[in-house]
Amino acid sequence: MSAGPRRHLLSTADLSAEDAMLILDTAAEFARLADRPIKKLPTLRGRTVVNLFYEDSTRTRISFETAAKRLSADVINFSAKGSSVSKGESLKDTALTLEAMGADAVVVRHWASGGAHRLAHAGWIRSAVVNAGDGTHEHPTQALLDAYTLRARLGGLEGRRVTVVGDVLHSRVARSNVRLLATLGAEVTLVAPPTLMPFGVEGWPCSSSYALDPVLPKSDAVMMLRVQRERMDQAFFPTEREYSRRYGMHADRMAQLPEHAVVMHPGPMNRGLEISAEVADSARSTVTEQVANGVSVRMAVLYLLLGGSEPAIGTEDEGERR
Ligand code: NCD
Repeated sequence: MSAGPRRHLLSTADLSAEDAMLILDTAAEFARLADRPIKKLPTLRGRTVVNLFYEDSTRTRISFETAAKRLSADVINFSAKGSSVSKGESLKDTALTLEAMGADAVVVRHWASGGAHRLAHAGWIRSAVVNAGDGTHEHPTQALLDAYTLRARLGGLEGRRVTVVGDVLHSRVARSNVRLLATLGAEVTLVAPPTLMPFGVEGWPCSSSYALDPVLPKSDAVMMLRVQRERMDQAFFPTEREYSRRYGMHADRMAQLPEHAVVMHPGPMNRGLEISAEVADSARSTVTEQVANGVSVRMAVLYLLLGGSEPAIGTEDEGERR
């Protein structure tokens, strides 16, 4: 997280290994809360968190909302659809409105790569800014929850081999994961058809391959990416059937993975395209675990950004919170 008068979480590139581990460890403390009958902590009482979503979202928005509420913050959900944004209001004017309302943190998802940076650095608002996905650029909390899930399932990240498969070109999840996993010592391999492999990938801290099958037996985890049709302005592969045959995860392919390996997907899934229903619902799939972990990770991010300096959960009278 960037130092300075206001801290933000904009990119995984800003996170040192220590920053990332602090977030994961704090999230692990918050995860213990999820098993209690009363899941709420008073930590962010009186603080306001705004979810500012210019792009559709199910998981991420609900996850941030749940995280903020579990910390007792007030939450305002703002989605571009149905707001004055559809009347042409600019990001700047929306930001000034949020500032006037006294938002302490703004969680922003924007269709433009760099949208969160602009909001954080244009001088319009004093809030902490959390990037919840900016165009095809970054989605740092997704990478953090993926790292959390991998650490929990594989017992660590150092030296673990993670294969990221599919529509890498349009994927902010892939970009954030490559950076964070490299920082945390994992070995990442990107697999995509040539048309969906980004230019300049040779300069990224990972290896790449156009073929999936040879990589499978050497993978501790395989992260399947959604084919992002809404960002495709041309045909990137001949047919869906062909894509699924070459790059989809089905039972036959899953059988080529080492026994301990897991299959991940950030959701939303195109069942039958990049992942078969059988794999998605199998014991090796971490899809719902990723969603659950997302809440703890986002609690940790909000807590750390909004200046929680006391121990995350505290040791005083446990009974009182039950
Ligand atoms: C991802 C996103 O929005 O970038 N989804 C998510 O946050 N859970 C991936 C995707 O949309 O495919």
